[in-house]
Amino acid sequence: MLQLCNLTRAYELGGERAGVFGVSLAVPKGCLAVLAGPSGSGKTTLLQLAGLLDTPDEGEVRLGGELVSSLPEKARCDLRLRRLGFVFQAFNLVPVLTALENVMLPLQLQGVTEAEARPRAEAALDRVGLADRRHHRPGQLSGGQQQRAAIARALAPDPLLVLADEPTASLDHAHGGPLLDLMAELAAERGATFLVASHDPAVIARAHRVFRLMDGMLVGEERP
Ligand SMILES: Nc1ncnc2c1ncn2[C@@H]1O[C@H](COP(=O)(O)OP(=O)(O)OP(=O)(O)O)[C@@H](O)[C@H]1O
Ligand SMILES: [Mg+2]
Repeated sequence: MLQLCNLTRAYELGGERAGVFGVSLAVPKGCLAVLAGPSGSGKTTLLQLAGLLDTPDEGEVRLGGELVSSLPEKARCDLRLRRLGFVFQAFNLVPVLTALENVMLPLQLQGVTEAEARPRAEAALDRVGLADRRHHRPGQLSGGQQQRAAIARALAPDPLLVLADEPTASLDHAHGGPLLDLMAELAAERGATFLVASHDPAVIARAHRVFRLMDGMLVGEERP
C-alpha cells in the first residue's frame, strides 16, 4: 500500500544536519504499522513525507504502486483530501464545530453534499463509540473522546492510508491501548492501512509491524 524508497530529507541548522536519511520501508494494506524511536529520530519528518505534506530531497513515495512524491502540488493536495487521513497529537478538531460537524468537514471539502455527509459522519462517530456525543464541541469532550472524534474524522472519507503522529501522547496510559485497539479493528474491518508515530509501549505492543528509527535512519523492523 505505502512504499517509501530511499527517502532523504535533510535539514541544515547551524551547521548541524538532521532529518531522515535513506529510509526504505513498505506497509502492506490493512497493516497497523508503528514508527518508533526517540525524540528527534525523524518520525514526524517521515510521516510528513508519507502524507505528501513535504517533499523528499531524494527518494520516492508510492501509494498503491503509484509514484506520488513527484506529482504537482495540486494533485498531491487532491490525494491528501481523498486518499489520506490524518490524526495529530493535539488541537486537531475545530473548536467552534460540534463533533459531527468536525467529522463532516473533510467530506464537504471533497464536495460531498451535506445530506450525504451527515449520515456518513454519524456512522463514523457511531463506529468509534461517540454517537451520543455528536453535538458536543471539542471543549466539551474528554481527551480520549477528542482523539476518537479525530479518528472518526480521518476515517469518514474512507482513506487508503491513515497517518497518526503520537495519537496517544495527550492521553493517560489507560486510553492509549483502547485507541490502538480501535485502529487495529478498523484496519481489519476496512482494510485501512495505518502508519502511527509513537514511543508509547502500549502502542508499539499492538502494532502489526514496528519500524525503529534512530538519528534519521531505519535501524530495525519487527513483526511482533
Ligand atoms: N523544520 C525543521 N528545520 C530544521 N530541523 C528540523 C525541522 N524539523 C525537524 N527538524 C530536525 O529533524 C530531526 C527529526 O525531527 P522529527 O520532528 O522528525 O523527530 P521526531 O522523531 O518526530 O521527534 P519527537 O518524538 O520529539 O516528535 C530533529 O533533529 C529535528 O530537530
Ligand atoms: Mg514528532
